[in-house]
Amino acid sequence: MKILCIGDIVGTPGCEMVISQLKYIIADYGIDFVIANGENASTGNGITAEKAHKLADCGVDVITLGNHSFNKAEAGQLMNNGFPMIRPINYPPQTPGNGFIIKECKNKKIAVINALGRVYLNPIDSPFDAVMKCANDISSSADIIIVDFHAEATSEKAALAWYLDGKVTAVFGTHTHVQTADERLLPGGTAFITDIGMTGPYNSVLGVDKDISVSRFVTLMSKRYVLAEGNCFLCGIILDIDDENNKVKKIERLKIF
Ligand SMILES: [Fe+2]
Ligand SMILES: [Fe+2]
Repeated sequence: MKILCIGDIVGTPGCEMVISQLKYIIADYGIDFVIANGENASTGNGITAEKAHKLADCGVDVITLGNHSFNKAEAGQLMNNGFPMIRPINYPPQTPGNGFIIKECKNKKIAVINALGRVYLNPIDSPFDAVMKCANDISSSADIIIVDFHAEATSEKAALAWYLDGKVTAVFGTHTHVQTADERLLPGGTAFITDIGMTGPYNSVLGVDKDISVSRFVTLMSKRYVLAEGNCFLCGIILDIDDENNKVKKIERLKIF
């Protein structure tokens, strides 16, 4: 079983990159299941129903979100209507949608859990408690459990991975838009990488027009962020999972231009 996890898809350019390239990546690498973080898929962050459907139509099996989950209000309705998209599990229980999903692929039940960090982000319930409880609850009904931990601090991401080592199949980070080179298997068998990176305009600051970003830092004057243009790149990881024991044999970084 090969699972592709795609990092934060930024705007229409990022979506177009996925829509045009995913079928080739699936064929070239023999991908069976695709998870993609879509919290920045639409202009101004968040995700519209149109973008979510386009991503699903081109081969994304599960869309995960993050701190921008509800920038587009229709995301909540979409999730409540059963669309395969999840928001962080540690959001308040009144929030629309679910924090995990279980889908079947090649006779395996694949669970995906989304969680949001607390360091340098708005106050929210403990991702450690929420993910551990969910992992325990679904352990008998899922063969594979993949966690997208949408968080800022590298320490918080590493700590969650160690906390879950042996309990879940893999923990990958999203949100920083910068791919880290620390992919590894922890002693208990859980695969981990701090951040899988972004998918969108390459000559940019995390997807944003570089001149606007530079100007904000240089002048300290607020200027509205605008998406960058030009060539895109796609970042992510491929998890190669043993069909016998459901453990990751290999975690591999992917960066496609
Ligand atoms: Fe993001
Ligand atoms: Fe984010």
